[in-house]
Amino acid sequence: MENRHKKGFEACGRNLSVTPDLEFAREFFSELHNNFQVAAAEGKIVTCLLIQSLIIECFAISAYNIYIPVADDFARKITEGVVKDEYMHLNYGEEWLKANFEASKAELEEANKANLPLVWKMLNQVADDANVLGMEREALVEDFMIQYGEALTNIGFTTRDVMRMSAHGLAAV
Ligand SMILES: [Fe+2]
Repeated sequence: MENRHKKGFEACGRNLSVTPDLEFAREFFSELHNNFQVAAAEGKIVTCLLIQSLIIECFAISAYNIYIPVADDFARKITEGVVKDEYMHLNYGEEWLKANFEASKAELEEANKANLPLVWKMLNQVADDANVLGMEREALVEDFMIQYGEALTNIGFTTRDVMRMSAHGLAAV
């Protein structure tokens, strides 16, 4: 499915005659990628799920949500299709974590602390470029917090926990 997304977005790029900066993309995701690899090597499934199924999926969903209103017609159609799939991927992780909530809670808190600040850093790195497209940083932050907060609520965290966790590290940027 992600491969279909890749093909779709490559077509969007060709349609706009833009060249993707793959080096930047690799660098952009490298810290989250590295944390995922370390967690995987240690067998920390909960941390892996938080990074991939919650953070990456919410990051993608919020970026697509804010992109859709300013996208060209072609890209809008592609992105609307992709965002539906990403909600489903988010749900896979949520369901597993919900079913294993008590056993996962402490590791989720810890993984959240270690990885959420990277999200704010990443959003700042692309803020200027996003602004050129008419995507405001504040809107991206807000949408991410909504998606991520909803996911944490669905998993079983209390409102108080969700507020604290979903804003972790935000004040520092
Ligand atoms: Fe996905």
